[in-house]
Amino acid sequence: MLVIVKDSYEQMSKEAARFIADHLRKKPNLVLGLATGSTPLGLYRELGRMHREEGLDFSKVTTFNLDEYVGLPPEHDQSYHYFMQENFFKHINLDHRYVHIPMGMTRDFDAFCAWYEQRIQEFGGIDVQVLGIGGNGHIAFNEPGSSLGSRTRIKTLTGTTRMDNARFFRNSEEVPKFAITMGVGTIMDAKELLLLATSSAKANAIKAAVEGPITAMCPASIIQLHRKAYAFLDKDAAAKLTGLYNDTWESRVF
Ligand code: PGA
Repeated sequence: MLVIVKDSYEQMSKEAARFIADHLRKKPNLVLGLATGSTPLGLYRELGRMHREEGLDFSKVTTFNLDEYVGLPPEHDQSYHYFMQENFFKHINLDHRYVHIPMGMTRDFDAFCAWYEQRIQEFGGIDVQVLGIGGNGHIAFNEPGSSLGSRTRIKTLTGTTRMDNARFFRNSEEVPKFAITMGVGTIMDAKELLLLATSSAKANAIKAAVEGPITAMCPASIIQLHRKAYAFLDKDAAAKLTGLYNDTWESRVF
């Protein structure tokens, strides 16, 4: 795993955007896996700026989002459909036929999840998957204890995750109890992983994911087994790491 530590959230977001822009220029029909949450907002802002000011072209890109709450319609302001539209999609030039976000309103979860997996395959797999990390080490909605080989499926959210996300809802009772999420195995099939983390609230999770044992109790730790995983961190998120990492990024050879 390559760990890249930047001084600030802004610098981390810019470096991550540069990483994606480089990939996109080399492969205009990039298949991009996307994440929601507050962490990737800076990345999406910077990619939007690159589109506007530098003509970065997303017209041939296909996207697959990691997850969506069950029971929220796409127009609900806390749905991940809405989040992606507001924070990223409306600022770039995607072809909406190639945008995929799990359907939280589906009536047949098994069929939908199987279709989602198949659709990823049809596009040749995900080239770069953007990931956040939960304070409890989750990736997407794969909570601690999730099978490290899991595929897209419906999951129950833990109390901690519901509490973490309650700030976005009027009250904690409104936070959905279930989500559709790509599995850990689905995520690990992506050709490259781009994990982002910011702030001291993520320092323990990052320590466990990057330097801890690989365990289902910290699903993010599985990325230690990925051949092309990059963790872009700000100083605060990296504060508990004991390894020295930046030199491997700056002298990297692709
Ligand atoms: P955050 O969420 O970016 O809002 O911290 C990340 C996650 O829970 O995966």
